[in-house]
Amino acid sequence: LRNSFETKAVKQNINTVAMQPKVQASFKVAVLGAGGGIGQPLALLVKMSPLVGHLNLYDIANVKGVAADLSHCNTPSEVLPFTGPEQLGDALKGVDVVVIPAGVPRKPGMTRDDLFNINAGIVKTLVEAVADNCPDAFIHIISNPVNSTVPIAAEVLKQKGVYNPKKLFGVTTLDVVRANTFVAQKKGLRLIDVDVPVIGGHAGITILPLLSKTKPAVSFTNEEIKELTVRIQNAGTEVVEAKAGAGSATLSMAYAAARFVESSLRALDGDSDVYECSFVQSELSELPFFASRVKLGKNGIEAFVNSDLQGLTDYESAALEALKPELKSSIEKGVAFANKQP
Ligand code: NAI
Repeated sequence: LRNSFETKAVKQNINTVAMQPKVQASFKVAVLGAGGGIGQPLALLVKMSPLVGHLNLYDIANVKGVAADLSHCNTPSEVLPFTGPEQLGDALKGVDVVVIPAGVPRKPGMTRDDLFNINAGIVKTLVEAVADNCPDAFIHIISNPVNSTVPIAAEVLKQKGVYNPKKLFGVTTLDVVRANTFVAQKKGLRLIDVDVPVIGGHAGITILPLLSKTKPAVSFTNEEIKELTVRIQNAGTEVVEAKAGAGSATLSMAYAAARFVESSLRALDGDSDVYECSFVQSELSELPFFASRVKLGKNGIEAFVNSDLQGLTDYESAALEALKPELKSSIEKGVAFANKQP
């Protein structure tokens, strides 16, 4: 990225028409909750994308300064602040990708489900506005508990008559990022080469890394499998405890969310080789929502990577069965919340 921006500046200085850079795609991205711990670094990373032409930052607080600050970076996108419910609609008009990290994070001792009472209502309100203003956008839900907030978003979109299951995503990219990092460290592999699919959901035992499907192929002892699986499942808690009350993962989350935004924009731009894990409406298991690898295209999910679920080890099969009751109940909790009378 840095090279492409520097090259552009040099080209402009010497003012040579023949050396003008290739015209880039110009997508519009909105971040809802942009003033927060995830929102700010995420907005910075999205501001660096050459695929973004407009970056709308929405929050109920603290967003004007963030937008003013970011707007001084000499990268292509225009950054605008929006604050308060009366500006939410304008923040969303014409948007291609909406990212939602709004809500409260965990403190030590809390589970993601402990956030439900506050974050469920926030996600419901924000997705209602998405339905009214940019129903065709890719919607990325980061706010926890993802296992419940994604089903809430789906119900809200259904109530508004605009639900497209191919374009609603729970962001589980951080689980993949962590799995790749931990496996590369453990096995002495080059980070850039490692890819571990992570399926199920995004909380505790519902996070299931499929270590047997690691690329490049690598063998693990039973002890290594157990240790890595538990570490990946508890990695969020590792950060919550290290921050000791000051929040949960924000920087690694922003990195992961920016990767998922970039993948979505590449897919929208016509790249035919984009695969990411995400928690989505799915028929891969008997549960209505399930995280797995999906192929992204211009219209959202183009295909599910079924092969990841074939030939699981005994350990993975048992872990898959064990996660289903918790994931099912988190999904049902979200659906019930969205459908209860006000
Ligand atoms: P934070 O508290 O630093 O920031 C949240 C932001 O949301 C604040 O700026 C706040 O003003 C804003 N906000 C609150 N209500 C809002 C509303 N109604 N409309 C717009 N903005 C609103 O929290 P942080 O650390 O950024 O975390 C955000 C969420 O992301 C939490 O729910 C956390 O659990 C979740 N998370 C998800 C991960 C994942 O892998 N999916 C990983 C890490 C965190």
